[in-house]
Amino acid sequence: MYDNNPTLVGIKKEIDETKQGQVFFQEKPANEAVEGGNGKHFYIESYGCAMNFSDSEIVASILSDVGYRPTRQLEMADLILVNTCSIREKAEETVRQRLNVFSKIKRRKPGTMVGVLGCMAERLKAKFLEEEKLVDLVIGPDAYRDLPNLVAGAEEGEKGINVLLSREETYADISPMRLDDNGVTAFISIMRGCDNMCSFCVVPFTRGRERSRDCFSIVSEARDLYERGYREVTLLGQNVDSYKWQNPENEEVVNFAQLLEMVALVHPDLRIRFSTSHPKDITDEVLHTMARYENICKYIHLPVQSGNSVVLERMNRTYDREWYMDRVRAIYRIIPECAISSDIIAGFCGEQEHEHQETVSMVDWANYSMSYMFFYSERPGTLAARKYPDDVPLEVKKRRLQEIVDKQSEVSLRHNKADLGKTFKVLIEGDSKKSNKDFKGRNSQNKMIIFPKIDGLKPGDYIWVKVTSVTSATLMGEVSFP
Ligand code: SAH
Ligand code: SF4
Ligand code: F3S
Repeated sequence: MYDNNPTLVGIKKEIDETKQGQVFFQEKPANEAVEGGNGKHFYIESYGCAMNFSDSEIVASILSDVGYRPTRQLEMADLILVNTCSIREKAEETVRQRLNVFSKIKRRKPGTMVGVLGCMAERLKAKFLEEEKLVDLVIGPDAYRDLPNLVAGAEEGEKGINVLLSREETYADISPMRLDDNGVTAFISIMRGCDNMCSFCVVPFTRGRERSRDCFSIVSEARDLYERGYREVTLLGQNVDSYKWQNPENEEVVNFAQLLEMVALVHPDLRIRFSTSHPKDITDEVLHTMARYENICKYIHLPVQSGNSVVLERMNRTYDREWYMDRVRAIYRIIPECAISSDIIAGFCGEQEHEHQETVSMVDWANYSMSYMFFYSERPGTLAARKYPDDVPLEVKKRRLQEIVDKQSEVSLRHNKADLGKTFKVLIEGDSKKSNKDFKGRNSQNKMIIFPKIDGLKPGDYIWVKVTSVTSATLMGEVSFP
């Protein structure tokens, strides 16, 4: 799934959501010749959610301010960084394997520094330095401003650690260095941390308290991206619907619906997406704002986690099946063309067979265009780890997960077949993976559409494409005009 794949500086990442969570990489020519550095290079690999990828761009910006330049060649790096994820055990295992590789490089090239950033750094803290002797730096998600200091210390041979979480840090003033750049789409972090306490989830422990970023800095980042040719921004937060920023000058409070509108007004040709929405917080005001602006994409990632109310209660999601269904109905009522996707956990503590079946039926009922699906992985320190035995056997978890995946593939195919013959406005992102004779782009519903190139079109252009064939993952079409 999407936490097991790294992205490298200078290598373009595509999180192809239609492929159910896999990440694909496409080579892009390296551009190592940057003027004005200190002659040193950093290499950064990112795992986990979009927020981590976005944080890596903040880190890159902080390092470039002190003269470090990005490289995509490990062997060339003076500083190797890995931005880590703790969400499931497997994500942490992947990072440990990568650290072994980095250790070998360090042995071959003494003086190379290795730093661990992100959620695993925050979770394991100083233990990292004890367990992984070759790690020089351990830096939590709120401490990236301290990187230059810690790197300077490490250059003198000291081990450095800063895992302090903050109630204020939003990196609002730092202009991210776009790493995996297609020049068309970009992430903008609008908040950090999470105040929900979903019992399965490690994020509140690794990312700290929720805080929202100054809305004016968000709008100016969006405007700057538009002026540089970008045509789509994705507003990121663990729970974007609880975005709330109070202007210190006049005490006015800006909520998520208002923020969406402010960003939508930057330019009608700048598309807005956002992730992730929490079913307990998504309001009709947000839905009406989406309906009002053509450039706010008609797509909502609304993780259900489980379709059964008893399991949802144990998960501490603070909504039940009925509430969730009410929100889905509201979405389809206010925005009929909206696509909805989900995150689902199979085999949570105590899950019974009939409870699992309610998750399968939810996939069908909600008509998800796609989902990210996982089996439950107990995380140390979480509410669930302390309170409930992880008692669904692994083979049962895997079988249930497979049933959910199969149902989702069937529903995705049905969803896509309903698009046959329709014409969509598509934002061209670049060449398709398989052929440079085809472009790929997304429609408002976040579906990837592949179509033959025609003269005069380039990435960043909008074009109308008529869907001529589909699979459960992708739409194929041809340029057409409505
Ligand atoms: N903030 C987002 C989710 C972030 S984590 C939200 O509230 O929806 C991304 C997804 O990972 C979660 O939605 C959940 O489906 C999955 N996940 C989180 N903890 C997990 C665990 N312990 N085991 C398996 N999957 C987990
Ligand atoms: Fe985790 Fe829940 Fe917060 Fe999402 S909302 S990050 S699942 S605690
Ligand atoms: Fe992973 Fe941290 Fe994101 S645990 S999913 S990288 S917030």
